[in-house]
Amino acid sequence: SVLEMEVEQINKGNYEHYMQKEIHEQPESLTTTMRGRLIRGGSCKAKTVLLGGLKDHLKTIRRSRRIVFIGCGTSYNAALSSRPILEELSGIPVTMEIASDLLDRQGPIYREDTAVFVSQSGETADTLHALEYALENGALCVGITNTVGSAIARNTHCGVHINAGCEIGVASTKAYTSQIVVMAMLALAIGGDAISNEARREAIIDSLFDLPNKVREVLKLDEEMKELAKLLIAEQSLLVFGRGYNYATALEGALKVKEVALMHSEGILAGEMKHGPLALVDENLPIFVIATRDACFSKQQSVIQQLHARKGRLVVMCSKGDAASVCLGGSSRVVEVPQVVDCLQPVVNIVPLQLLAYHLTVLRGFNVDQPRNLAKSVTTQ
Ligand code: G6P
Repeated sequence: SVLEMEVEQINKGNYEHYMQKEIHEQPESLTTTMRGRLIRGGSCKAKTVLLGGLKDHLKTIRRSRRIVFIGCGTSYNAALSSRPILEELSGIPVTMEIASDLLDRQGPIYREDTAVFVSQSGETADTLHALEYALENGALCVGITNTVGSAIARNTHCGVHINAGCEIGVASTKAYTSQIVVMAMLALAIGGDAISNEARREAIIDSLFDLPNKVREVLKLDEEMKELAKLLIAEQSLLVFGRGYNYATALEGALKVKEVALMHSEGILAGEMKHGPLALVDENLPIFVIATRDACFSKQQSVIQQLHARKGRLVVMCSKGDAASVCLGGSSRVVEVPQVVDCLQPVVNIVPLQLLAYHLTVLRGFNVDQPRNLAKSVTTQ
């Protein structure tokens, strides 16, 4: 009806699509996610995080033998990107489970496990069934959702709301970045206040405070990503290479392209390049390589060199000022992004890929907010 159309226009504001609006409001959604949870501390008080929904369970979580992340789709990818920092700060082994696969295998879950369920909607059937299964097996169950009162929020022992605001586009964008921020805060909370980690903790908290600004900055790449989308509009396939903190970024970037632009895309762990993917490389197939500064940078430089040696058609994402360091041995298109602390870099790095997927979809003439065959919340198994 005309009224419904008008309401929609009001909700979308100046944007054409919800996905576009949700990508661009990430500086605000991230701010809301962190509100009241980060404590800068005075002269004598160290910086800390406060997660009200977890505080009574932190001791139990710290004593667990293992932390298991469980989710589907984008929520799984968000958890994957948080795995390294949670392992580093907690010292507890962290394993990953796609909800349906855990159920297919009836994989072992123990009383000594902490199972963390990540879901934007809080209603995904696979994740919800995995939760029932973990409860039966006696694990401590933590929920990370965007929906107060959802089934996963209600049935877990404790949890954290990501407070990203209502997400309407089927392809998750702002919920993804808020999930990563919540899981970084979760890692800080579980890691506790060991002196040995103090400098690291403070660097992460400082970077969290500044993150909305850095996301505002990276959003300025909108036009550049639209130009890139124009070059890729007729492609059949796009590979996305990442590793370390940004392995998840590669998976999530490829998922965005696949979901909305209806283009085959695959996220590839760069460390596995020689074990198969290298066979695909030629002068035609576009390859997006994430090579921002972190402990894996020099390994990623050598991946770029090897891709150049096979005449790969590369777009390289690097930290500001690093263009020359990533063009070794060949010419590639470069996308420069602002640098933040390594464990939060995935929040910045996914933004250009969200923009790319968005523009590709519009240019290819597909439905951005309701992609073919997909649903926002999959409540059947
Ligand atoms: C569906 C949606 C995805 C989402 C996934 C998990 O497949 O289309 O965008 O990532 O479900 O949803 P959840 O609500 O559990 O995060």
